[in-house]
Amino acid sequence: MKKRYWLGGLFLAVSALAATLLIPNPVGRQVLAEAKSKGYLSYSPEEATALAYSRCTTCHRAEKILQYCSRCGPPFVVVAHSMRKYIELSNLDSNKIKKFSDAELIAIVQVWNALVGNWESDWRQKDIVRLLQNDDALIRLAKTPVEDRPIEVALKNSTAPGSYKEIQTFGK
Ligand code: HEC
Repeated sequence: MKKRYWLGGLFLAVSALAATLLIPNPVGRQVLAEAKSKGYLSYSPEEATALAYSRCTTCHRAEKILQYCSRCGPPFVVVAHSMRKYIELSNLDSNKIKKFSDAELIAIVQVWNALVGNWESDWRQKDIVRLLQNDDALIRLAKTPVEDRPIEVALKNSTAPGSYKEIQTFGK
């Protein structure tokens, strides 16, 4: 008898969890967003794009990113590391701007690489790694061949309005 109660309870708990995740609702969305930011679930290319636009425009406009180019400075993987550092260093007292998680930044870098441009191959990998200091997640990304980056591959043929890549393609 006791065992049956236990099983019943377990069944209810599992059903409740499944319902929370499967039926669209604010709690379920929050749980899924959290799981993705922790890297337990992967971002779809569309989700990654939305994330990139929302998280990278809290301090400056998207143009700063869209017009960034191979002559402007190091590739996005390095820029993303600087932005992460900037938040960590400037945010010591207040926590108004959320720090980037590894999974978020890995997804976001792939989006800007695909939509704006990826000039990692113009750089020596050694130099990129040095600029990434001890950002292991981004170093891992930098060492992953582009064809093994699902979000970057999926968005490869897309452009963003006003982006460096779009202007460059237009000029050809
Ligand atoms: C906490 C605020 C903040 C966030 C969030 C932020 N940035 Fe920045 N970003 C800055 C500041 C500050 C600068 C440098 C000053 C400036 O140029 O306005 C900058 C400059 C840049 C530049 C220009 C760099 C250059 O050398 O010209 C790029 C590109 C950029 N950010 C991309 C990003 C991307 C991509 C993200 C999302 C991963 C992001 N930023 C998120 C604060 C932020």
